[in-house]
This record gives sequence, structure tokens and C-alpha cells, in this order.
Amino acid sequence: MRIGVLCSGGDAPGMNPCLRAIVRAAGAYGDEVIGIKHGYQGLIDGEFWTGANIPHEIGIRAVSGLTSKGGTVLNSSRSKEFMTEEGMKKAVENLKKQNLDALITIGGNGTLSGANELLKHWDGKIIGIPGTIDNDLLGSDFTIGFATAVNTAVDAIDKLRDTAGSHDMMFLVEIMGRHCGDLALHTAIAGGCEIAAVPEIQCSIEDIIKKLNHFKQLGKKSMIMVVAEGDEHGGANSLLELLKKAGCPYEMRVVVLGHVQRGGSPVPADRILATKLGCFAVYSLHQGESGKMAGEIAGQLVLTPFKDVIVDHRQVTPEMLEMLSIVAS
Ligand code: F6P
Repeated sequence: MRIGVLCSGGDAPGMNPCLRAIVRAAGAYGDEVIGIKHGYQGLIDGEFWTGANIPHEIGIRAVSGLTSKGGTVLNSSRSKEFMTEEGMKKAVENLKKQNLDALITIGGNGTLSGANELLKHWDGKIIGIPGTIDNDLLGSDFTIGFATAVNTAVDAIDKLRDTAGSHDMMFLVEIMGRHCGDLALHTAIAGGCEIAAVPEIQCSIEDIIKKLNHFKQLGKKSMIMVVAEGDEHGGANSLLELLKKAGCPYEMRVVVLGHVQRGGSPVPADRILATKLGCFAVYSLHQGESGKMAGEIAGQLVLTPFKDVIVDHRQVTPEMLEMLSIVAS
């Protein structure tokens, strides 16, 4: 089998060990793996891997040392052209030119939607792998990159707490995650934060002020509030202004962690998940599967049809937020 592999959307720590697993698992089956650079845009532009091997093939040794490497050696992109008829046509032509039988796509919701669309125009097989720090996908308990991003954010919060404590101050720490609060909430719980604002659960400025006054009465002198970037109040900077106007009892500062959360060497949990899902994707192709995302749910490797993954996104539960509130008080 000739299998193409690409990463698309925001990079996530663990994409590299996933590529390594795909190449090594495919090698065990006697398959060839063709690397596609810069995601769907590279597929349109005919930008293939140019290692020292047979043209475009990623040889077994070419992926040595990728277990601990952050980012993606395949590069990634968010391609608008792929969403056009002309772009799709070029992508399909290149898949045919390369004689590919199958494709493995690593990325988030947009990547899976793109794969779903591609299958309407190409008769090869496609398996998707969830790679995004957002953990916003249905069909897998965790996405590749999430554990590392939580680790990075918690590390930053541990440091900020020192300064918050020294100055009796409150930090509003903005966390990525787009429309999903999972990354923010996990960070808040692991970082021992007092309060979190997430997109899934509405909380008025008055309610936040009430909580902060309550914490002040409890004797808390400093505070860390995690703010998901997709929160209803428009992120940490705009929330600071709103809280200030409403009489926030703490002096505040904002820290936007931004793309720092996407970088760094993947933590073991991400390396392991990436390896499992990479191998499982190759295995699934050999079982004749297509149009599905490989994931892990309750310790089991599972396939979920693209249409059932892209229809919605993961939501954090009010119970998790409630738990944060209980342990913070
Ligand atoms: O999907 C990963 C992610 O980092 C989101 O958390 C964030 O909203 C978005 O990508 C940022 O995208 P870009 O790097 O294109 O600005």
C-alpha cells in the first residue's frame, strides 16, 4: 500500500511521534509512506517530502529521534484553497499522480472536515488522527498534544503564583482552546486556580465579582483566574476591563499564554497516545477501513466516522467547573 501522510491546522506536540509510529507500522506491513508537507496546501502545490530516500518516501530511518521533538517535521497549514473546487481538484490530481492508495491526516476538526470532503472526490481510503491541543473532538477521550499543552500552561501558572503571592495580586491567564474550555479547565484544576471562565458555561460579571468578594472574605490575598480564549467576555484583556469597572477587589494583571502552549517536547502521555493512534491508523487501513477517525475511549482504540466527529465539539461539564469551585474555597 502507498500511504500519504499530512498534518493540518495548528501544530500539536506529539505529531512527530505519531508520524514515526505511522512510518514504522507501515514498514512492518511492507507499505511505503509518502510525506506531504504543509498539509492540504502542500497537497495542492505538490509539495512532497524530499528526504534522502526514494523520492517522497519517508524511510524507516528518516523518523529516528522524532519521539521527543515538538511541532511537526511535515509542517502544517490552514488552507483556504483546499475548500475551493479548483483546490480540491488539484489535490486529487496530486494524490493520483503519487499513486496513493490511502491517506492519514493528523489534525483537528478542520482537518477531519477536509478529509471528509476529499473522500467525495477521491476513491482512496482516509483515516484521521486527532492532533490538536484543544481536546475539542468527539471520538477520543484525549487528542494528541493536549497533555503537553496542559503541562506547559500549568508550569506557567506555578510561576505566576509566586508573583501573585508576593504582590497580593490576581492574574487573569488566557488559555487557548478556541470554542472549547477543556484545556482551560484542566489547566485550572491542575494549577490549583481559584476560578475559571469557559465558553460552555455562562457566568455574569456580577457573579464573578460575587465569587471574588467571597474569596477576599475567606482571606485569599492572591488569585489565579483562568480565562478560556473563547469565553463569552472576549478573553482575558476585555474581562479585566469589565471586572475593573464592576469593582474587582483585587489588583489585576493579564497573561496571554498564546502559542507557547503549542510548543515543546511532547510529554509521555502524548508520545504514547500518538504511537498508539499512529499504529492503529495503519492497522485500520489494512482492515479496509476509511472515512473514520482513530481515537481512544476508556482505554479502547476505536474508529468513529468523520461525520459523527465533525458534527459537534466536546463540551466541558458544569460538574467539572463545580469541582474547581469546591476545591478552591
Ligand atoms: O487549534 C489550535 C489553536 O491553537 C487554538 O487553540 C487557537 O484558537 C488557534 O489554534 C490559533 O490558531 P492560529 O495559530 O492559526 O492563530
